[in-house]
Amino acid sequence: MKLSRCLTLLAALLPITLAAPTASSARRQDAATNDYNSSFLVFALFLEQLAVSFYDSSLSLLSADDFRAAGHPDSVRRGYEQVLKSAKAHSDYLVGEITNLGHADSTAGCDYAFPVKTTEDFINMSEAIQALAVSTYVGALDRSQSDTYTTVFGKMLGDEARYATWISTAVKDQDLADISFESPSSMNDTGTIAGLSVTGCSPGIDPAVFAFFRGLNGAV
Ligand SMILES: *[C@@H]1O[C@H](CO)[C@@H](O)[C@H](O)[C@H]1NC(C)=O
Ligand SMILES: *[C@@H]1O[C@H](CO)[C@@H](O)[C@H](O)[C@H]1NC(C)=O
Ligand SMILES: *[C@@H]1O[C@H](CO)[C@@H](O)[C@H](O)[C@H]1NC(C)=O
Repeated sequence: MKLSRCLTLLAALLPITLAAPTASSARRQDAATNDYNSSFLVFALFLEQLAVSFYDSSLSLLSADDFRAAGHPDSVRRGYEQVLKSAKAHSDYLVGEITNLGHADSTAGCDYAFPVKTTEDFINMSEAIQALAVSTYVGALDRSQSDTYTTVFGKMLGDEARYATWISTAVKDQDLADISFESPSSMNDTGTIAGLSVTGCSPGIDPAVFAFFRGLNGAV
């Protein structure tokens, strides 16, 4: 199965395990509604935390000279700094909302290790991570029942899609015609993302999210 299709499917499946309100009292109904909303937010947060960790650690590793040596103008590294800033802003927003909904224990995140040694490794993996980001928000939008969060997910999807396109066209110098998130034939997702490892997730984390990220480590 194609990675993006598979991830969209996973994103769509996740809430089913969390959604069904079983309670009859108003208080428990509220709790179920909160859980339903927060399940998407937690899912998106884990994607953003993964992205922050990836861009932060990679940009610490790769200097401006490394980008130049790999044949990229300085605007490329600056563009990635902007992508990191955006992921941090998304992550901060999501932590705030999840905390407001009473699930602060789900915001702690995991530790990640990325197989990035060269600028080219980084750029290729950034392309896969942006495809993952787009799929995550497509899945979240598909299931969201909250006007507030539908609007927010739409904006975040817009950001992620813009960066995904920037990486594929401006950074990698590929034709726009080659890009399709439904059939990412221009990149080998499985191979690109397989080296990712996810370790040390905090106990508050929903097992479905953890399983999703473990799945990236070879199963997709
Ligand atoms: C990066 O991806 C391109 C195709 O988009 C591929 O030709 C190249 O070999 C990849 N490089 C590495 C280091 O994986
Ligand atoms: C949470 O989701 C419900 C629908 O399940 C919606 O009515 C409610 O407004 C949402 N809460 C927030 C804060 O968006
Ligand atoms: C994609 O990567 C996997 C694992 O690295 C490899 O086995 C497979 O042959 C690659 N597929 C293509 C089309 O390059």
